[in-house]
Amino acid sequence: MKTIIEILTEKLSAAFSACGYSAEYGAVTLSDRPDLCQFQCNGAFSAAKIYKKSPAVIAGETTSKLQSDSIFEKISVMGPGFINIDIGDSFLLTYTDEMLSDEHLGIKQSEKGEMIFLDYGGPNTAKSLHVGHLRSAIIGESLKRLAAATGRKTVSDVHLGDWGLPMGLFIAELEDRNGGGEIALSGSEWSEIYPIASQKSKEDENFKQRAQEITAKFQSGDSYYLSLWKQIMKISVAEIKEIYKMLGVSFDLWHGESDSEQYVPELIGKLKSKGLLKESLGAKVVDVSEPDDNPAIPPVIIKMSNNASGYATTDLATIIERETVFHPDELWYVVDNRQSLHFTQVFRCARKASLVPEKTAIHHLGFGTMNGSDGKPYKTRDGGVMKLTDLYDKVYSATLSRVEASSFSENADKKEIAHKITLAAIKFGDLMNHRSKNYIFDIEKFTASEGKTGAFLLYTVARINSVLRKTAPEHTDTVPERIYSDTERALMLTLALSNEAFELAYKEKAPNIICDNAYKIASAFSKFYSENHIISESDISKKSAWLSLCLATKTMLQKHLDILGIEPVEIM
Ligand code: ARG
Repeated sequence: MKTIIEILTEKLSAAFSACGYSAEYGAVTLSDRPDLCQFQCNGAFSAAKIYKKSPAVIAGETTSKLQSDSIFEKISVMGPGFINIDIGDSFLLTYTDEMLSDEHLGIKQSEKGEMIFLDYGGPNTAKSLHVGHLRSAIIGESLKRLAAATGRKTVSDVHLGDWGLPMGLFIAELEDRNGGGEIALSGSEWSEIYPIASQKSKEDENFKQRAQEITAKFQSGDSYYLSLWKQIMKISVAEIKEIYKMLGVSFDLWHGESDSEQYVPELIGKLKSKGLLKESLGAKVVDVSEPDDNPAIPPVIIKMSNNASGYATTDLATIIERETVFHPDELWYVVDNRQSLHFTQVFRCARKASLVPEKTAIHHLGFGTMNGSDGKPYKTRDGGVMKLTDLYDKVYSATLSRVEASSFSENADKKEIAHKITLAAIKFGDLMNHRSKNYIFDIEKFTASEGKTGAFLLYTVARINSVLRKTAPEHTDTVPERIYSDTERALMLTLALSNEAFELAYKEKAPNIICDNAYKIASAFSKFYSENHIISESDISKKSAWLSLCLATKTMLQKHLDILGIEPVEIM
């Protein structure tokens, strides 16, 4: 389905062309003076320079060609040559109806249906998930849904960090605790093991070396360490799965760095055959520097001096796996901005070794940090990294006490409602900022039921539900014949422009555009709702028109929420 902007641009372009000007001047945009008109076209100014005529004359000629077109309520020349446009209500009504009857709600579907492979989540086994993993999960899930909503095929992989030094450190600490004897594994004391091990490795060089040796051993298939590794994985992955389930984040693949081990020989083979692999201080590296680099990009370490694989090795071998099994058109890595050097190295190396075809796009979609009120990365009180589950608990307990104090009917599942509001608050608070930016985590602000928050969006849907519950369902079935009020028109126009927002959000890979549009809809609904007394309206045609607009708003808002990975609540 074409967007309204496209339809208008076609009309204006045809008019420019019919008057002897290039069609490109017919580009229509949303008006930046909504108080004056809905859309505008400023093409007459650029055309004036080329055709040596005044913009007002050009604008006058073109608009006169369009006066009889019923799509326009008004098309007129303003000031020195601006074309101001308002569309007619009957067009708006038909367009909105068509959009809502479309299975994709009017969102343009990619013709090519590209296959997008997304790498997000990235938790490390044996380590607790922290707020950075939360950002990756929230943003990645939303990007995946956005790609699917615009007609792309997606494959998502959690890419567990399970093959590096953290696992070695964890095992070394377990050994210490058991005095070298048989290791009995229980999940209970898990969360403290890694932080202790990590601290020890900073203070005790022997401990660190032992952890490195253990890492090299399980990587090379040592049966004792590999069996320990497997037991740890079982417990850890089960726990990680629970967390993602709770967050409403899902993955097609639960692969990890370890799964790439089988592709390492192929990687080494490719690097060797291209003459890329060099020896450096006992390690095997690939030079990926380019003449214009500033600062210099260090070489990629493929094999360390003890023959262990590093972070880059697993990422490169994983690219081979993904290419072999899925042939993606695009690879997206939703990972902290602070890993951008790593991805620059990995992507350059992958290109040099032709691990994917030239045409395959590879993107690092980086994100900023979640900060505390001091503007620094969000920490626990004692200065440690904030665990994902602790952050959730914090927001949940604040939300639950509010929900419990509210006047819901007794049989509402308040815990379930509080859980959904919590996730809406956290996810929306995160996604409303452009992903590359840092933002300040503010519980009060994020959970407020007014303003640009997830709670406000849920509240809007719940309010519509309440209106619909109080009225007869047959009233929403009809297609409205006319528009009765300005706030109603403004709301309908906002809904009708949503497909534009979806397209742009995909193009920019920016879920914050979906957040903005959802907030626009909810605000427009709020104005419409307070101006019109829907439930008590006695004119049945009017009431029906308003109720179907309520339903349309709910459908559209839910689509936005779905792409943000936010579940609505029935009542609130
Ligand atoms: N496990 C890594 C971390 O916690 C993130 C993994 C990101 N994905 C990737 N393919 N490297 O920092």
